[in-house]
Amino acid sequence: MSPTKSNHNTQDVQPHDCAIPQSHDYTTPTLAKNPCRRYSESATHSTRCPRSPRHNSSPSAHKPLSICTHLVPDYNDIDLMSDLENWGGSEQMYIIGEEEVEAVRRVIESGQLFRYRGGEGGETDQFEHEWSETIGVRHTIAVTSGTAALICGLVGMGIGPGDEVIVPGYTFIATALAPLAVGAVPIIAEVDTSLTIDPEDIIRKITPRTKAIIPVHMVGLPSNMDAIMDIAHHYGLRVLEDACQADGGSYGGQRLGSIGDAGAFSFNHFKIITCGEGGALVTNDRDIFERALIFHDGGVAFREHVDQLRNPLFAGMNFRINEILSAILRVQLTRLDDMLEAMLREKRTIIHALEGTGPFTFNPIHDVEGDCGTTVALLFDSEERMRDFTQKVRELGVRADTPADSGRHIYANWEPILTQRGAHHPALDAFKLAPATVTYSPDMCPQTLDVLSRTAYLYTNPTRPPEELQSMIEAVEVVLRAL
Ligand SMILES: Cc1ncc(COP(=O)(O)O)c(C=O)c1O
Repeated sequence: MSPTKSNHNTQDVQPHDCAIPQSHDYTTPTLAKNPCRRYSESATHSTRCPRSPRHNSSPSAHKPLSICTHLVPDYNDIDLMSDLENWGGSEQMYIIGEEEVEAVRRVIESGQLFRYRGGEGGETDQFEHEWSETIGVRHTIAVTSGTAALICGLVGMGIGPGDEVIVPGYTFIATALAPLAVGAVPIIAEVDTSLTIDPEDIIRKITPRTKAIIPVHMVGLPSNMDAIMDIAHHYGLRVLEDACQADGGSYGGQRLGSIGDAGAFSFNHFKIITCGEGGALVTNDRDIFERALIFHDGGVAFREHVDQLRNPLFAGMNFRINEILSAILRVQLTRLDDMLEAMLREKRTIIHALEGTGPFTFNPIHDVEGDCGTTVALLFDSEERMRDFTQKVRELGVRADTPADSGRHIYANWEPILTQRGAHHPALDAFKLAPATVTYSPDMCPQTLDVLSRTAYLYTNPTRPPEELQSMIEAVEVVLRAL
């Protein structure tokens, strides 16, 4: 590992003078191309993202069997929770119940668990159609994970050996593993105080080998998509949005995942909607779609739809989802917009109540209306003060933590990447396939480490009664005022 602070050689490229829309603090909005408004000015999520009537059902229409949220538990449901240790601090946020059980029963009783060979037109095809409608894209491929969606997206874009893909230093390691899986090298860029990739650092990291950018909408927060798309157009790069933590969020009125060339979603256990493990790739680009479709199903040559493909077949994998998971996802999708609305409503209430009560600012948000609302991020002037805050609110029974402690989401802990062991076999290792220009070190993104170390997270809960939210806010306010 090299001690250098830069993670690759930039000698052959000069940054260009691309106009970069900056992130906006919600307290001092700038009405730019994508106006970021104050919470008090903003419309509800639903007005920015029109949904089909099918998705407008009220929360009460769905009676959850078990409500697994990521904050205060419902003690009536305690025997249904999977992780009792996590009471009051669970990372799970999904809502799941009788409808999902019924959907699984329906599939099992049908005897058709496979999406092809009789399953055509079934749960998976219908989920893909519904997800395309929700996100506002032409094509969806449901897959086995968010990682699979990212890999299929890069394959669809034709990314491969010799190419570089810029990823943020704050994301789950899968974002950086995906380029390696297709033979390309991840280049790690800084995040800024918005906790999403810093457009200025993207420009600094561009070389003639750069082929794509993967902005990540971390903890439901939209990245600065205007700036990223401007940069991508200027340099001729592809954009694969990692919306794995932002199912259903939006930016400038468009759903996340639909703005770049393609978007990847995760439906694993920790995501806004879930089927345990699952994912989806979305795109409007027919060639990306076809190549991803070919790659995700090595048996594509034997499917009914093979004759409709205009791209030549090549060797693929198996990232196919099954009918049981798709049936669960179809129910989960009916819950999505109500959850987003409830979480964003809570987030606005928390922000309005806490604003000006202590020595912190809220981390700026690139689109307060498109934010998924899962997480409230508070930025302190020092790590010491941030830790003092999180410790004291925890003592009062409120879940609070810091991204600085989320090991797997910080580039400095990505051992396989920092040590440049890119594959199980040297002949498949992207680091050995490309010119050896990349170096990594744990301290190469100091801005990222600084922002994460000063940020604290509080969490929303889409099913929390107002009086519990009020108690939580009062507890946090007491701590903030005394800091
Ligand atoms: C930002 C991000 N990208 C990618 C992934 C990978 O998703 P999966 O676990 O479904 O493969 C995750 C999952 O945690 C994630 O949070």
